[in-house]
Amino acid sequence: MGLPLAMRAVEVGYHVLGIDLDSTRAESLAAGISYVEDVSSEELQRALKSGRFQPTTEYAQAEGFDIAVITVPTPLRDTLPDLSFIEASASSIAPMLTKGATVVLESTTYPGTTEEVLVPLLEEGSGLIGGRDFHVGYSPERIDPGNKVWGFVETPKIVSGIDSTSLTKIKAFYDKLVRKTVPVRSPKEAELAKLLENTFRHVNIALVNELAIFANQLGVNVWDSIDAAATKPFGFMKFTPGPGVGGHCLPVDPSYLSWQVRRTLGQTFRFVELANDVNDHMPDYVVQRSIEVLNDQSKSLRGSRVLLAGVSYKKNTGDNREAPAARIIELLTGYGARVVATDPHVPEAQWPKGIERVSLSPDEVAASDLVILVTDHDAFDYPMLAKNAKTVLDTRNRVKKSSETVYTL
Ligand SMILES: NC(=O)c1ccc[n+]([C@@H]2O[C@H](COP(=O)([O-])OP(=O)(O)OC[C@H]3O[C@@H](n4cnc5c(N)ncnc54)[C@H](O)[C@@H]3O)[C@@H](O)[C@H]2O)c1
Repeated sequence: MGLPLAMRAVEVGYHVLGIDLDSTRAESLAAGISYVEDVSSEELQRALKSGRFQPTTEYAQAEGFDIAVITVPTPLRDTLPDLSFIEASASSIAPMLTKGATVVLESTTYPGTTEEVLVPLLEEGSGLIGGRDFHVGYSPERIDPGNKVWGFVETPKIVSGIDSTSLTKIKAFYDKLVRKTVPVRSPKEAELAKLLENTFRHVNIALVNELAIFANQLGVNVWDSIDAAATKPFGFMKFTPGPGVGGHCLPVDPSYLSWQVRRTLGQTFRFVELANDVNDHMPDYVVQRSIEVLNDQSKSLRGSRVLLAGVSYKKNTGDNREAPAARIIELLTGYGARVVATDPHVPEAQWPKGIERVSLSPDEVAASDLVILVTDHDAFDYPMLAKNAKTVLDTRNRVKKSSETVYTL
């Protein structure tokens, strides 16, 4: 999240210090090699050439900064929110804080983090008072990796501050970077807005996933029903079933919200828990369907060669963090299947361990007892797949059903 923001800030004229404690990443950036799909190496090299972008691992170089934006990870540790990266970053920024500077948190987190965690750490390490001496706020990141229509500049940005001066400063900063800013009354509302956006998607995906399972048992084509429902011009938003959710957002963010509700109110956020349960079990359902479709061909999973097409969590990206493919592979292997996989986007360093990487060629497809389409990358040749495969389990409804050997979820 930090890199696209940094590139845009350089583009509009800011001098940007890009701090990452991971020295491999900082070195790669300094060498003009981007590891972020939405930022090309050419764009990065332009920023470096301008002399206004400097990658580093050293917070000390931030001495006298005007604006600091925190975009560190907010994962779960043992199913609980892990704010240690925000805390570490805040403690490193604090000694560099001077009067009049501004700090913005962008990492996704539960309501209250900016005021209850970030501000005290900044005050403690700087001896200054938030609001009086320096400005603080929260502005959630909304980048959708791979989205060619809604990029960083085009997507409206929610902004907030711990007081009106902080809000004014933060809004002015982002007004230079994006087309539209959306001020909200305090950081808590901004933090909750981000969790609402992701929980909304998580819950709706769970709804169509569960529907897909029941529709299959009822002999109804759920994809046709969803497409038909989506013709309603109001009051309906289209979500499609799949093999499970992945990435850094959906499997993680809603749990920040349910954790806070449980911790603060002692209540269960039932929608989130239910959505987690349904989405977490989709890989099990994919494998159950694999057993069924092979059974239809008088075959068993044990001993079958299964080709997974796509191991990233999202089409046209190489991000396979928390991707359902990992669990599908684990389950298939457990049943004794011989699993191979193909994905043009996932780099070697992130490739699932012990799984042979093959190309999606007619020979590889024909040599497999079952091809499971897990991620519907545009780069795949779907007519070739349908023509050559013995059996296909299409979890995305992308291989048009041209024969009796193509099955959907
Ligand atoms: N990836 C997305 O699509 C997306 C979308 C919206 C919001 N977010 C949120 O943005 C935040 C960052 O996500 P990301 O995908 O960019 O994560 P990432 O892991 O790709 O990048 C975070 C970087 O922070 C570095 N880092 C860790 N601790 C540090 C520290 N103390 N100081 C400096 N650098 C440090 C890491 O080395 C890493 O390179 C998360 O809260 C995430 O939920 C992500």
